Amino acid sequence: MATLDDALRLDGRRAIVTGGARGIGLAIGRLLAARGARVMLADVDADGCASAAAELGPDVRSTGADVRSSDDVARLVAATADAFGGVDLLVNNAGVEIAKPFVETEEEELARVLDINVKGVFLATKHAAPAMIATGGGAIVNIASIASLNGAPLLAAYAASKAAVLQLTRVAAIELRGAGIRVNAVCPGLVQTAMYDDLRAPIEGAAGMSLDAVVAAKQGRPGTPEEIADAVAFLASDAAPFTVGAHYVVDGGLTASLF
Ligand SMILES: NC(=O)c1ccc[n+]([C@@H]2O[C@H](COP(=O)([O-])OP(=O)(O)OC[C@H]3O[C@@H](n4cnc5c(N)ncnc54)[C@H](O)[C@@H]3O)[C@@H](O)[C@H]2O)c1
Repeated sequence: MATLDDALRLDGRRAIVTGGARGIGLAIGRLLAARGARVMLADVDADGCASAAAELGPDVRSTGADVRSSDDVARLVAATADAFGGVDLLVNNAGVEIAKPFVETEEEELARVLDINVKGVFLATKHAAPAMIATGGGAIVNIASIASLNGAPLLAAYAASKAAVLQLTRVAAIELRGAGIRVNAVCPGLVQTAMYDDLRAPIEGAAGMSLDAVVAAKQGRPGTPEEIADAVAFLASDAAPFTVGAHYVVDGGLTASLF
């Protein structure tokens, strides 16, 4: 009988991870490779991505790609299929945050966040799904956020974008289920990455207390990129065959509590 460890293996799977140069994306790339997948890390930071891939070994490659560009994303999918013979997994992780009062958020700032966080997921899914279908299906995991589920001060653009990521997840899941592609999302709480550090000044200004104190009160401690990668690798694997259009909250209990 197959064990859970067997079902979690990703041997032979061919994966794309966007935003893979650092933070959560890098941890996802590392874990997918450790479970047996071949991984293409893609990022606007082409150099960061290349050093990450070099560190992770021969089964991990990299390419520069801006998820806002249809041409870049098409090249990314083609390069992955060329390098590995197909595409089975897509992790839509690339994302940016802005923390600003609602009325001070400029139109251009809103547009940038929506372009990267929403259009990026849309384009990568649109281009990768046909490649997955060509070889029998696969799995897509979108990195959403607890800001997909609840509001918070300063997060108008970000929360709107991440709510849209959940809706893209659900629609793609239903449309692609028949083609053998499972689409799901992970909603991380606050996770210790560069994005977390960028939140420090605006959140501390608004809350009047340190970000670490806010996080300690709300979710016990910051999450680690590896804890998010574990959830992604589970959803990407054969251990989750009936999990479709779902979101998996990994937030230390933040969204479970009223206070
Ligand atoms: N860190 C958190 O607390 C947290 C919480 C919830 C959700 N998330 C989400 O997790 C994902 C990863 O965040 P992180 O904390 O690792 O952030 P990060 O800033 O450390 O890494 C994001 C990566 O995405 C890349 N990127 C940005 N714009 C891109 C573009 N247009 N095309 C391709 N790559 C691009 C960056 O170069 C960077 O390598 C994001 O979608 C973020 O919204 C993070």
